[in-house]
Parts: sequence; structure tokens; C-alpha cells
Amino acid sequence: MRHGRFEESMSTLLRDYGESVSFDWRLYRHDISGSIAHARALKTAGFLTEDEFTAIETGLHAIGGEITNGEFKFSIDLEDIHMNIEKELTRRIGDAGAKLHTGRSRNDQVATDLRLYLRDEIVVLQSGVRTLQTSLVGLAEANEGVIIPGYTHLQRAQPVPLAHHLLAYVEMLERDHGRLADTAERMDELPLGSGALAASTLVLDRESIAGELGFSRVTQNSLDGVSDRDFALELLSALAILGMHLSRLSEDIVLWTTSEFGFARLSDRHATGSSLMPQKKNPDIAELTRGKTGRLYGNLFRLLTVLKGLPMAYNRDLQEDKEAVFDSVDTARMALAVTAEMMSALQINKDKVAEAVSDPFLLATDLAEELVRKGVPFRNAHDLVGKLAAESSRTGVPLDQLPKEFLQELCPELLCGWKEMFDPLRSLAARTAPGAPSLENVRTRLAYWRGVLA
Ligand code: ARG
Repeated sequence: MRHGRFEESMSTLLRDYGESVSFDWRLYRHDISGSIAHARALKTAGFLTEDEFTAIETGLHAIGGEITNGEFKFSIDLEDIHMNIEKELTRRIGDAGAKLHTGRSRNDQVATDLRLYLRDEIVVLQSGVRTLQTSLVGLAEANEGVIIPGYTHLQRAQPVPLAHHLLAYVEMLERDHGRLADTAERMDELPLGSGALAASTLVLDRESIAGELGFSRVTQNSLDGVSDRDFALELLSALAILGMHLSRLSEDIVLWTTSEFGFARLSDRHATGSSLMPQKKNPDIAELTRGKTGRLYGNLFRLLTVLKGLPMAYNRDLQEDKEAVFDSVDTARMALAVTAEMMSALQINKDKVAEAVSDPFLLATDLAEELVRKGVPFRNAHDLVGKLAAESSRTGVPLDQLPKEFLQELCPELLCGWKEMFDPLRSLAARTAPGAPSLENVRTRLAYWRGVLA
């Protein structure tokens, strides 16, 4: 690369500062398939003979195999994965190798490699999402009929089926799955052929390259083709949101496994001990996921910041895209797998849950709604039941055991059927609107998800 233009060799400091092969070697498979498709177009256009093309194709496959087996020697003097492969190919096959870069720049090459790489990673991530959804549905099915207190402001609010709570995450993950699909859809354009920035006087059939590489379209502006990283940003953004969801689920597990909540127990395989306190069983697994969300957000901001001041078109700053993307892809993939395994093995402590859900305050809203049914305006009903709750809190007498006389005086409409009103099952049975947590609805939704995930 330097032979023609430079007289001095590069400072080793700059070499170490600028090399990317230590991390972008991961693109090798996609770099090789991109190069083979490019070479085939060079052959069709008459820039390579049949024999030269075959030598390139065979040589690249051999190099790919060696990289896979860990036999290939990378050199940081060759800066990146693209130069490492091209240089080695040329060393092996001579002139034909030296023709490979005809009509191409590393700028459109790397933009192509990264899209190809991320397209494959998205499929893996989507399957990770599906695995976690399956594990949540399994846990929900195993505990069908278990009712927990639902919370707002982390204060006990109203009873909900545990399955409804778990299925809320399945819905969230479904949106993550959709965001990944959208990202893949918009990413589905071939930038190769954009050259360094202004394409090339050596015109190749971009459509056929796109076809060979499985892209639906070719990019329509060469400047945009080499400098666009929106697709990477969209993925980082989708993974940041996914991370937020996993973090919220993790926080639920951290809470549920405390002695204070006691709703769930982690399996021994997914819990950690303390180096000092012998009794401890810690939910590090969930805390790590909560913590790693920081990386997923950080990587999004890292790339947004890299991109914000770039003049048209390619700038070397863009090399900073890769580590952010690799880290988020790895982190999200691991977090999905770990969370799925943890949730599959989670034990629900049904006694502790039943005790919590027997809190009569959870049915206070039902009392107000019963008053509404008897013709009391809702605001007045809310006020009346608020007074009952205050009396219960003041005296320490549970809401369902308040003296008859007190009820008679404040809201006589509630006297008849008073005790039955504190049955959470009865409360849930009435919640039949679409999306509401009646056990019937939840069963239907579980069956729906079983079908989707099958
Ligand atoms: N390693 C570079 C990157 O990741 C490849 C493109 C280099 N292009 C250049 N004009 N120096 O962006």
C-alpha cells in the first residue's frame, strides 16, 4: 500500500495505533465471500481470465480454512483483515491476486463485510430472543394458576397471574425481535461498487454481486455507500433496548430472590456464593446482565459520537465502529443465553407467593368497582374505600376483617358478599377485556405464544 508513495516506513506507534486486524479478523469469512463475488464480476467484465478467477477463488478458500483452523499468521504491519488476506493471496498466486482489488476500495469493501457479518449475527440474536421467550413461556406454563401481587411504584397494587408477568417480557422480546428484523431489512443493500467514494471507471455488474451475496438491492449513492453506518447504529439501538428489557427482568429476579420477597429461588447452578459470608446465595447472574446493559448503551453512544462530525465521505474514524458493534453483539448474545438458562431453572416459592397475595389491600380497587356497580360515582367510591384502608392501617385490623358496624356506616352496599370480594381468583375472573389478566386470557395467550415459538 505504501510502496509507491512513501519513502519512509510507518512509525511503529502509528502502526500499533491504527491496526484493526486484532479485532476485525472476525470479518474474514464475509471478506472472503465478498472478494469472491467481486472477483466473479471482474471475470464477467473481462478483467480476469477464467484461470485467474479460479486461482483467486481457490486461494481465498484455502486462506479462509486456515484462519478457521487458527493456522493463519496475521500481521499488524498489514493493518486490517482486508490487507492481510489480499497480501497473502498475492504471495501465493501472484498476479491474479494483485488484480483482485481492481475497481474496489477498502472503503466499500469494509462497508460490505460489516453488513454481511451483521446480517448473520442478527439471525443468531433473533434465535437467542426466541430461546428466551420459550424459556419464559415454559416457566409460565409450569406455574399456571400461580397468582402474585402486581406492583406499581414497587408497592403492592393488584393481583396478577405470574404467567401474565412473565408474558409481559415475552411481548417486550417480540418487539426486540421485530426491531432486529427491521434492522436486517434496511441493511439489505450492497455498498460494493461505491469504490473509495466515487465508484470506478471500471464498471462491474453490481446487481449480480448483490445477488451472489444475498443482498436484495444495491446502494444508490456511492458517497453514502461508503460512509453510512446507520445499519450499525440501528443494531446498537435495538440491542440497547433489548438490554434494557433484560435488565428489567434481571432486576425482578434480584428482588424476587431476596429474603424480603422470597418469591423465587435460583438454581444452585445459577447462583454464586460469598467469599466471606457462608450463608449467602447471590444473584450475580442477574446483576451482571443489569450491569452489562451499560455497555450496550455505551456502545450506541460511542458510535453516535464517532459519526456526528464526519465530513463526507469515508473517514478513518469509521474504523471505530467495529469494536462497539462486536462488543454489543457478543454481550447481547451471551445475556440472552444466560437469562434463558436462568429462567428455565428458576423455582417459584408458591407458599411465599400465596402469603403475599393474601394481602386484602390488593382487592381494594375491586371494592371501589363493586360500589360503582351499585351506582356510586367512582370518585366517591374511591374515597370511601380509601377511608376503609386508612382505618385498617390505623387500627392494624386487616381490611377484610373490619367490623361490620364500621362498614354498615360507611358503605352498606358492600356488606352483602363482603368476604367473597377478597378472593383474588374471583377478582381475576372478572378481568376479561383483551390483554387483561383473567386466567382464561392468560391461558389463551400462552397457547398463542406456544404456537408462535413452535
Ligand atoms: N480498517 C478500515 C476500517 O475499518 C478499512 C478501511 C480503510 N480505508 C482507508 N481508506 N484507510 O474502516
